[in-house]
Amino acid sequence: MINKNIFEFPIVYTNTIPRIALGWGAHETVGDECKAAGMKKALVVTSGLKGTGIVEEIKGIINHAGVAIEIYDKITTNPKDYQIMEAYKLFRESQCDGVVALGGGSSIDTGKCVRVLAANGGNDITTYSVFLDPPWEQTLKKMKPCTVPQVSVATTSGTGAEVSSWAAISNTRARAKVLISGPNVHSTVAVIDPLLVRMQPREIAAWSGFDALAHGVEAFVTKVQGPYAHGILLRAVELVYKNIREFTYNRMDNIACERMCWAATMGGIGIGFGAGAGIVHGLGHQVSALTDCHHGRINAVMMLAGERYNQPAIVGKLAAMTRAMGIDTTGLTEWEAADLWFDEIEQLLKDLEITPGNLSEQFGLQEKDLEHIINVYHNDFCSQGNPREFNHDEILALMKRVMHNPY
Ligand SMILES: [Fe+2]
Repeated sequence: MINKNIFEFPIVYTNTIPRIALGWGAHETVGDECKAAGMKKALVVTSGLKGTGIVEEIKGIINHAGVAIEIYDKITTNPKDYQIMEAYKLFRESQCDGVVALGGGSSIDTGKCVRVLAANGGNDITTYSVFLDPPWEQTLKKMKPCTVPQVSVATTSGTGAEVSSWAAISNTRARAKVLISGPNVHSTVAVIDPLLVRMQPREIAAWSGFDALAHGVEAFVTKVQGPYAHGILLRAVELVYKNIREFTYNRMDNIACERMCWAATMGGIGIGFGAGAGIVHGLGHQVSALTDCHHGRINAVMMLAGERYNQPAIVGKLAAMTRAMGIDTTGLTEWEAADLWFDEIEQLLKDLEITPGNLSEQFGLQEKDLEHIINVYHNDFCSQGNPREFNHDEILALMKRVMHNPY
C-alpha cells in the first residue's frame, strides 16, 4: 500500500512527450507532419515573428503539402486569456482541424489551450487552470483528452513548451499566471530547427536560454525526481552554461546554437520527470502576471534569490551542478562547491547584461502587490515540489529583500 506518511511523493510519474524532430532543416518537414497528423486546415498560432520571414516560409511549406491554413498572429509574451479565446474562436469559425504553433512558449502554449477548449468547450480557458487546491489530479480527471493534433515549431531555445504537457497563461481578471494542462495536451510532434532558432534577437536568446537553465536547475533540485532527471537535467545545465554566452552574442555560431536547442528540449522533457519547477518559476510567474515581464528574464532575475533560499536543503545538488558545469571543485567542501555555483551564475548574469533582483527598479513592482503574489504562489503547482518548505512570512521576507537588492 502506498504510504504517504513515509514518502511525501512515493511514486514518480513522467509526462508523455511528443515525437521530436531536432536538427538543421527540420522545419521543411512541417507540411508533411501536418498531413501525417490528418490536418486539412490548420490554425497557425504565432506572434507574427515580424522581420524574420519565418511565418511566410512555414505558410508556403504547409500549403505545398496540400494543407490549408488560417493565421492567428496576435500572441504576446505571457499569453493572455482573451488572446487564447480569440484564437479558439478563429479555430472554430474557420473549421480548422489542427494547430501549428510557431514561435516561443507563448505561441506553443496558446496552441495547447486552443486544443483543450476544442476538446472540452467553454467560454473561458481559465476554467481549466490547475492548482494545488482543488487538487490538480482531480481537475485533470474531469477533462476530456485533446484530439486535435498540434505541430509545434520552436523558434526560441528556452521554454521547452514544444515537448511539455503544460501551458502557462495570464488570467487577466485574477491578475495571475496560471497553469493549464489536460490529457493528451502535449504536441503531436515537436519541430526544433536551429535555422529558425538562430534568428532570435540577442536579448531573447539570453532570456529564453536562462529559462532552459531554470528548468534544468529547478527540476534537478525539486523534491521529486529520480535517475531520469539526474541524467537529462544535469546535462541541460551543462549545455546552457557552456553555450549561452557564445549563442547570445553570435547566434550564427552553429555549434552553440544547436547545443542550446538540445538544452532547451532536454529541460522541457526533464521538467516532466518529477515535480516540475519550484520557487523561481512560481514567484516569477506572478511577477510576470503583474508586470508582463518576459518569462525567461524573470527566471534569470529570480534565480539567485530563489536558490539562496533553497540552499540549506540542496547543498549537495548545487555542488553537483557546479561540477556538471565543468568547474573544478577539488578540495572544496560541498558547501563551498555550492557557493561556487552562485558565483558562476552571478557572473553569467553579468556577462548577459541581466540585472538580478531589484524588482521595483527594473519592473516597477510595488510592495502592495507582494501579498497577492504570495497568495497565488501558495496554491501554485510550482510550490509543491520546491525543496525547502516555506511559510508566508519567509516568502514575504524574500520578496521584500529582492525588491531593492540582487538577492
Ligand atoms: Fe520556464
